[in-house]
Amino acid sequence: MPSNLLVQPPADGVRLITLHRPQALNALSTELLAELATELDAAERDEHTRAVIITGSRKAFAAGADVNEMAERDLVGILNDPRVSHWQRIAAFSKPLIAAVNGYALGGGCELVMCADIVIAGSDARFGQPEINLGIIPGAGGTQRLLRAVGKPLAMQMVLSGEAIDARHALQAGLVSEVTEPELTVERALQVARAIAAKAPLAVRLAKEALLKAQDTDLATGLRFERHAFTLLAGTADRNEGIRAFQEKRPARFLGQ
Ligand code: HXC
Repeated sequence: MPSNLLVQPPADGVRLITLHRPQALNALSTELLAELATELDAAERDEHTRAVIITGSRKAFAAGADVNEMAERDLVGILNDPRVSHWQRIAAFSKPLIAAVNGYALGGGCELVMCADIVIAGSDARFGQPEINLGIIPGAGGTQRLLRAVGKPLAMQMVLSGEAIDARHALQAGLVSEVTEPELTVERALQVARAIAAKAPLAVRLAKEALLKAQDTDLATGLRFERHAFTLLAGTADRNEGIRAFQEKRPARFLGQ
């Protein structure tokens, strides 16, 4: 049983994971990250889970890496940091991942948000990379993914000054997909997740992979991948079902085949 997470088993294909370390504003300790990676691995294996939501509390999605834990690590400890592989497992999750964010998403918290595919933010959310205040820099994608998400000037401003931005600014910059009233964040994420969970699983999986390709390949390679994925899906039963259901004016029943 995880001790830093609350995990709701999948309902309607959606699994909800709540970061729960209230005494430290959900700071991402090594233990919490290991638990999160393990839960995502379980969700990856579970055919009933079609989408996962990660959320935190009203005050904090996550206030970053655990600074007290960081204080105990020397150079060798950092070179052998087990958190690196936890982060890799989290970032490699292949099913749709939605972050429902209220309050602080700072440092590793903001980096966790950027591992998600869709980000629903409460209007009270704040996103920042304050590592520079500690004499360090982001270490879990906060320079690479942030620049790709919001562009160079704003990424530079956030990482070099440590200043956070609010939800409206994050929406305008492309860091989040939607802003809601704070009390509706998880509900809205659930709506989106349920909609995704009802689609053809193979198409969802390949759509995510194709969209992610756009971030790290040149256009010609990305277009080639899209064409291959599109062709592959032409051989699926779910494609036949989707088209037949449209013609028969009824909802499709996708089986993941
Ligand atoms: C450990 C933390 C913490 C953190 C908060 N707490 N953030 N503990 N690590 N990142 C603890 C506080 O020590 C405090 O514990 C309790 O949570 C409540 O926090 P307060 O500071 O009292 O709350 P508030 O005054 O409302 O301020 C909220 C805050 C501030 C602005 C978010 O807590 C803050 O600046 N936190 C640190 C943010 C940060 O620098 N994050 C980046 C970390 S570096 P007590 O016991 O005193 O009540 C990073 C690198 C990632 O993320 C690299 C990945 C490999």
